[in-house]
Amino acid sequence: MATITVIGGTGYAGRNIVREAAARGHDVTSFSRTLPDTPVPAATYLTGSALDGSAVAAVVTSAQVVVVALAPSGDLEDRYEEVVLDIAALAGEAGARLGVVGGAGTLLVGPDGPSLSETPDYPAEYLSYSRAAHGVLRALRSTDPALDWFVLSPAREFGAYAPGEATGRFRVGGDVLLHDDEGRSRISGADLATAFVDEIESPTHRRGRFTVAY
Ligand SMILES: NC(=O)c1ccc[n+]([C@@H]2O[C@H](COP(=O)([O-])OP(=O)(O)OC[C@H]3O[C@@H](n4cnc5c(N)ncnc54)[C@H](OP(=O)(O)O)[C@@H]3O)[C@@H](O)[C@H]2O)c1
Repeated sequence: MATITVIGGTGYAGRNIVREAAARGHDVTSFSRTLPDTPVPAATYLTGSALDGSAVAAVVTSAQVVVVALAPSGDLEDRYEEVVLDIAALAGEAGARLGVVGGAGTLLVGPDGPSLSETPDYPAEYLSYSRAAHGVLRALRSTDPALDWFVLSPAREFGAYAPGEATGRFRVGGDVLLHDDEGRSRISGADLATAFVDEIESPTHRRGRFTVAY
């Protein structure tokens, strides 16, 4: 059993990870500004802002695994990268493993690129998200090798608008976007969480990024 703090544990990705990790018996704490309407009974919910350094330090240093499920929007729109890297530094000092929910925009459309966010039909409204996710990925790749991190970039179709189901059957890839036989790149919230908690329990992507899709 691991002690896991999910920063942003009430959002779409975060609440799926909280639910999955708690269901597997881990000691899970969620940290976000507000409490959820339907909390996971076995999880602990703490409130605070990711912009409050001392509150973040307290929840990071008490964890063996720190999950960042924040989004680069709202009051984090221009500060997401800075906040995630501060969390990474705190995790490193605490000897905790860091797991970040990334974005599909940073995945390559083929082995030689470009990234999905550089393709012509990539929605303009997601470009700022993708820039933030790229920034975090680049910075994590340059961190001290002692920091044990991973980034899980979801498939292209992922989010509260398409929650899907828990199938337990998905493919795991690296830096290249995965598609199903119909050419769709998609993953449910539950299956993303399964892959995320699998990685916590059996680390196979140390200091690396991976993706999951059907
Ligand atoms: N296909 C894709 O590539 C794809 C699709 C969707 C999401 N994503 C990525 O997945 C990650 C998570 O996205 P999401 O859709 O799950 O986000 P979300 O539903 O908006 O959840 C964000 C979480 O962060 C918390 N939060 C926001 N601002 C905060 C602050 N200042 N202090 C503390 N907590 C704060 C929110 O709770 P409070 O508001 O209560 O604080 C919530 O728990 C993002 O990096 C996003 O880009 C990727």
